[in-house]
Amino acid sequence: MGKPKVLVTSKLPSASLDVLFEKFDVDYRDESSPMPHAELLERVKSAEGIVCQLTSTIGRDVMDAGQKLKVVANVAVGYNNVDVAYAKQRGIMVTNTPDVLTDATADLTMGLMLGIMRRITEGDRLIRRGGWTGFTFSFMLGTDPRGKQLGILGLRRIGQAVARRAVAFGMNIAYLPGPSMLKGGPISAARRDFDGFSATPMGFDELLATSDVVSLHVPLTDQTRHMINQRALARMKASSYLINVARGPVVDEEALVWALKEGVISGAALDVFENEPTVHPELLTLDNVVLAPHIGSATRETRVAMASLAVKNCMSVLSGEPPVTPVPEFMIKAAERV
Ligand code: GLV
Repeated sequence: MGKPKVLVTSKLPSASLDVLFEKFDVDYRDESSPMPHAELLERVKSAEGIVCQLTSTIGRDVMDAGQKLKVVANVAVGYNNVDVAYAKQRGIMVTNTPDVLTDATADLTMGLMLGIMRRITEGDRLIRRGGWTGFTFSFMLGTDPRGKQLGILGLRRIGQAVARRAVAFGMNIAYLPGPSMLKGGPISAARRDFDGFSATPMGFDELLATSDVVSLHVPLTDQTRHMINQRALARMKASSYLINVARGPVVDEEALVWALKEGVISGAALDVFENEPTVHPELLTLDNVVLAPHIGSATRETRVAMASLAVKNCMSVLSGEPPVTPVPEFMIKAAERV
């Protein structure tokens, strides 16, 4: 019997791939760009495993074309690009890469937050166009994080890592206890201790209305799509900032442009966009926005760790073992374990 075939849809750090090449028959596409969908449909036909990135849409069509598929190992923590419900129906395992990218993503969140609050990229643009005329006392004033409220939507791994960093900058943390609270009004639960910080639970509207910075760390689901829309933005303080390192469609970009232009909020810092790699043209013209090209986890160390974890997940499943990090939908609940 030949070795099981694994399709790797786009280039990954070579250090993470050696072990895969040793044990499996690897169909490796040595290009960084996303694999064209038609090519994916063709190359998945003989694959038992796919190691793919968030730019590959692994839907019903791909899984139907890949009749031998046993595992989809996504090299990302977010997995909205995979039709998990259909994978479950077909008995195809889906895995992601949590934990290994938590610090890198939280670091970038702080960078974006300071970038918009202290107007760093706005100043950079000013200097480059020759517009700086020298130091003056009241020039380009920003906002201190110290003493401000950071409202975190999605206080899980990355949200908590952001909170720990923000506390070191003197910020107070508020959070939305769960997605079910989205529709809820104010809540009166007590402040809660987490690992390294404490945080005040708030309903969605209260969190928006009282936070100086709102940072998004929720997965993209039907419930969170356009969670930040015109209504939500209108509830935020005029002096506040929005940070998005989660997924672009969590924010209604059209509504955000309106809020930034009309002074409904003070600024935004975005690492993700609704229609990547297209960015709303008006965002490009606004000075009160920091734009990053989806680089939340983009450090050398983290990308090697993510690729290695995805490879390990894929290899485990194809060797008949449980993966290290199945997506939550595939986690065995304690009660179901024998
Ligand atoms: C990146 O966006 C990820 O989900 O890992």
